[in-house]
Amino acid sequence: MHRYEKALTRLVATTTHLNSDDIRPLIRVPEPDKGDLSIPCFPFAKRLKKNPAQIAGDIANGIGEDPHFISVEAAGPYLNARIDPKHIVQTIVPEIRALGDRFCTSDVGQDRYVVVDYSSPNIAKPLGFHHLRSTMIGNALIHIHQALGYRVFGVNFLGDWGKTFGLLAEAFARFGDRTALDQQGISYLLELYIQANKAVEAVSGFDDAARAMFRRQEAGDKAAIDLWQLIRDISIDEFQKIYRRLGVVFDAFEGESHYRDGMAGVIEKIEHAPGTRVDQGALVVDMPYGEGEAPLMLRKQDGATLYATRDIAAAIDRWQRFAFEKSLYVVGVEQRRHFDQLKRALSAMGCEWSDQMTHVHFGRVHGMSTRKGTVVFLEDVLNEARDRAREKMKQTAAERDIDLDAISEQVGIGGVVFGDLKNLRTSDYTFDWEEMLNPKGFTGTCVQYAHARCCSVLRKAGGISETNTPDLALLTHPEEIGLVKTLARLPGAVASAARELEPSRVARAVYDIAHAWNRYQQAGNADRSLRILSNDPAEKTARCALVDATRIGLKKGMALLGVPQPEAM
Ligand code: ARG
Repeated sequence: MHRYEKALTRLVATTTHLNSDDIRPLIRVPEPDKGDLSIPCFPFAKRLKKNPAQIAGDIANGIGEDPHFISVEAAGPYLNARIDPKHIVQTIVPEIRALGDRFCTSDVGQDRYVVVDYSSPNIAKPLGFHHLRSTMIGNALIHIHQALGYRVFGVNFLGDWGKTFGLLAEAFARFGDRTALDQQGISYLLELYIQANKAVEAVSGFDDAARAMFRRQEAGDKAAIDLWQLIRDISIDEFQKIYRRLGVVFDAFEGESHYRDGMAGVIEKIEHAPGTRVDQGALVVDMPYGEGEAPLMLRKQDGATLYATRDIAAAIDRWQRFAFEKSLYVVGVEQRRHFDQLKRALSAMGCEWSDQMTHVHFGRVHGMSTRKGTVVFLEDVLNEARDRAREKMKQTAAERDIDLDAISEQVGIGGVVFGDLKNLRTSDYTFDWEEMLNPKGFTGTCVQYAHARCCSVLRKAGGISETNTPDLALLTHPEEIGLVKTLARLPGAVASAARELEPSRVARAVYDIAHAWNRYQQAGNADRSLRILSNDPAEKTARCALVDATRIGLKKGMALLGVPQPEAM
């Protein structure tokens, strides 16, 4: 649509002598019966000293012929433009096919860095369902920015430092069972943690011993660090199993512990930064504009650092390494205050770049906790999604000779991931198994089906010949043109997803393509003359070119979201 928005802007700018930059942002998509693009003329009234309806009328009369549009008309105070279907079909379809994998990519972000801090679970506990949102929103934002040419650093800021790990290490040293740990991995650690907490109550001196253990870890004592390392390694191994299933790859696991050694240096720097002061032996930052707000503590009297200290060290380190344009923290809304303080503390310390840090928070998921209110493990959710998908596909799979195991995993993951990302990032949503895998709903399954169907049509057509240039003038049916228009909107959706940090823009756009594709299919079922695999070779070639463009668009949209893209279902 980019091209058409630009063309309309130019037309209006020439007739009114207004500045293009004042016109372009006003362009909207109107109700379908009104056209494809629309400009409200209210904002021009003052400058042109006429009423908006008059302006719209004058512009419409003044605009000459233009190959992009079949009409540009006034409707009251609005100017509505209709794109020439021949033009859009004949430009967009070949363009997408020529771009292939590079469809929706650009270089607007060239040479600039985006840091994405996402997933970031605490170690020694399995990933919970509540980690899904951060993990998948972060993953999508990474792919989306990469598509726009940004350099991205995706980092998992593990919660891997603190008293808890002294406690766990002490418990393991006292009553741990290495064989059980090796066999059961993280679920053993979870039990150990429960046991450790009981010991704090029941075993005298245990609590002090756990504290001492953490102090030894902080001091770098070999035996104490080895225990911590073991707990950390086992946790990461376990996390990676799930990340692998989700197709999520981190550039680095740089958790809180990463900032334990460099901490002294940073603290020194912080100590001399403006805004910080020592208060009864503790290092604090006064919050700017924080009427009555307690200062942020960065080092306690006993020398211990805190979560906020390590985040400050990490923020400074990331700035020094990447000079980022954006530094995104994809973290639940419960930590709003933490990130607010973090930014303000950094700004008090003279780090102007703290403005480029954004807490990308997100809504809650309802309907996904156990009856006892305990954590639901992400692995269990992914398994259930896979099993449900398998159940639904069992029959067709047998008929169609597809790999049921592989596909049901892809469909399960796609359902869960899309079911999350389709929601506005900041809204809450309710988890609903039935709806999530509904092939006719606003779901990952629907989009995956559409894509698999495109692939299967192209397979049946025997591939598409590259030498035979399709005569795209043959694509004149409203469903064909409608489908092309949804494809033309995908790149704009990707750009706005990056601007607004809102992956749901892509989810919506890719679903719109799938929906238009389904309508095209239905039209072909109802009217045989619209069949893609027509007996007329020219028709078949042109339609297959459209199917190919559709396949490319669906695949790209799903890939950006982290939804798997099976080619047969
Ligand atoms: N580990 C934290 C938690 O589980 C989240 C860390 C988020 N990232 C950050 N830079 N603070 O709550």
